[in-house]
Amino acid sequence: MKWVSFQPMLRRIFGCSFLPYHDYGKGGRGWRDLWQDCLALLLMDPKNVRDMIIDSFGGVRIDGTNATIIGEKSGEFIADRNNICRVWMDHGLWPFMTTSMYIEQTGDLGILGVKNTYFKDKQTERGTATDEKWTDVLGNTQKDSRGRVHKGTLLEHLLLENLCAFYEVGEHNIIRLRGADWNDALDMAADRGESVAFTCAYAGNLRNLASYILEMKRKRIINTVDIIEEATSLINCEPSIYDDIAKKQAVLRKYLKEVRQTVSGAIVSLDAETVAADLNRKADWIAAQINKNEWVSDSEGNSWINSYYDNSGRAVEGETDNGVRMMLTGQVFALMSKLCSKEQADSIVASAKKYLFDPEIGGYRINTDFGEEKYDLGRMFGFAYGEKENGAVFSHMAVMFANALYKNGRVHEGFECLKALMDSSMNFDKSVMYPGIPEYFNNEGRGLYAYLTGAASWLLMTMVTESFGIKGCKGDLKIEPKLVKEQFDENGQASVSLIFAGKNITVTFENKSGKDYGEYSFEDGTKSMVISRDKLAGTPDELFLRLV
Ligand code: G1P
Repeated sequence: MKWVSFQPMLRRIFGCSFLPYHDYGKGGRGWRDLWQDCLALLLMDPKNVRDMIIDSFGGVRIDGTNATIIGEKSGEFIADRNNICRVWMDHGLWPFMTTSMYIEQTGDLGILGVKNTYFKDKQTERGTATDEKWTDVLGNTQKDSRGRVHKGTLLEHLLLENLCAFYEVGEHNIIRLRGADWNDALDMAADRGESVAFTCAYAGNLRNLASYILEMKRKRIINTVDIIEEATSLINCEPSIYDDIAKKQAVLRKYLKEVRQTVSGAIVSLDAETVAADLNRKADWIAAQINKNEWVSDSEGNSWINSYYDNSGRAVEGETDNGVRMMLTGQVFALMSKLCSKEQADSIVASAKKYLFDPEIGGYRINTDFGEEKYDLGRMFGFAYGEKENGAVFSHMAVMFANALYKNGRVHEGFECLKALMDSSMNFDKSVMYPGIPEYFNNEGRGLYAYLTGAASWLLMTMVTESFGIKGCKGDLKIEPKLVKEQFDENGQASVSLIFAGKNITVTFENKSGKDYGEYSFEDGTKSMVISRDKLAGTPDELFLRLV
């Protein structure tokens, strides 16, 4: 774990490159990396994170997409000069995930009211058109019709990212895959592809955004949600059209046309509760849609979520002539966004174990072997099975699966998933790498790209906030250990250090009687405790907590 904590620093310095494996980047960092690296900083070195977050929102475009070429300085983004540009449909998701962790760790809900500019270049209408009138002279910030720079709150930026995604659906009323999603190698289904996996993830964002808006209202940070006038149609639209794909697409198209060059500059104040109710309605609609249409099963009755539609408009997973096809990504985000009932979660967990778990090579593979070069989905099927995004144990997705398992109270399964990664990395004869988390383990269990991976940030975060269970809760410190008995050392102890509220805190749990998760509690009989932020100053830096 010490080495894993160091990996995000290497990644920030070196970008995604400079390792003796070919084919990987030119030293740059992408949009996801930017937001992901912030997660690790929040636990290890949070002092500049607030500014970093605010600056990075300057990369969002008014159409909810974002700049993809990242400059040298914090908040510096470079115009895309391509005539054909790619839009990754998951990009709009990560800023909120990171901002929400920041808010939980610090209690700084006020950050959502801070204003920043929007990015502008010639890519417009979510990368489907070019704004021929735009030139460098006009600069890289979004202007209004009178030529003034438009500044919106971070909340406005987040609403635009998540709402535009909600309306950008394909023929199954699932958010379109566009250039690809988190899985960069799903890059050949831009016309008809849809990502159920990340539609689930957006539903989670919409719900959590709604709860922050209500919390801001309760704390009198805001009374209204202030957004550009053009965007009100994304919020006020009649819920009965959610089922109507054409009408939904039309709502988005109208908005995109209105803001293709400039915004009017008019700001409208919407009632906070109305906006929150609308976001919740949208999230509920997605949950219902997924539960109604996206469950697939095999002939033995195992069932799980179909993660994608391909460029031929077909569901990708389920039982086929080539055997059972299953992908991990949809399962991760259906669980992480808590869209499933307990029984559904049980069947996802059992199916993933059956079809994807291979502890000899790191644990959960990203997909089963499709036995086909599936060019109506992506170049991933051009990789040999077990390499990179095609069937390897792709650490980032495996760690996110663990995180989702913990969030659903599946502590033993979450630990099993992390332990498989850990054991494989430590098995030098097979992994041929120093301890740490690689980007992926291949079919032979060899770890590749031994440190430049976003998986390190997620592993760190998952260990601290889920496994050790130490996390911010609207700024207060919540401690709810979810350690299993193997995680305590020979003295029955397990400890972790982190920076919280400006303090270097070390928490040691002692579990003398060797109890397992579920069996132990704190001495007062409770299983979790919250130390309010104002009491933290008077709390010792070293917390020693007995589990009985
Ligand atoms: C890499 C990319 C990341 C992408 C992932 C899957 O992951 O950096 O943006 O989502 O592949 O295609 P990493 O090297 O961070 O594990």
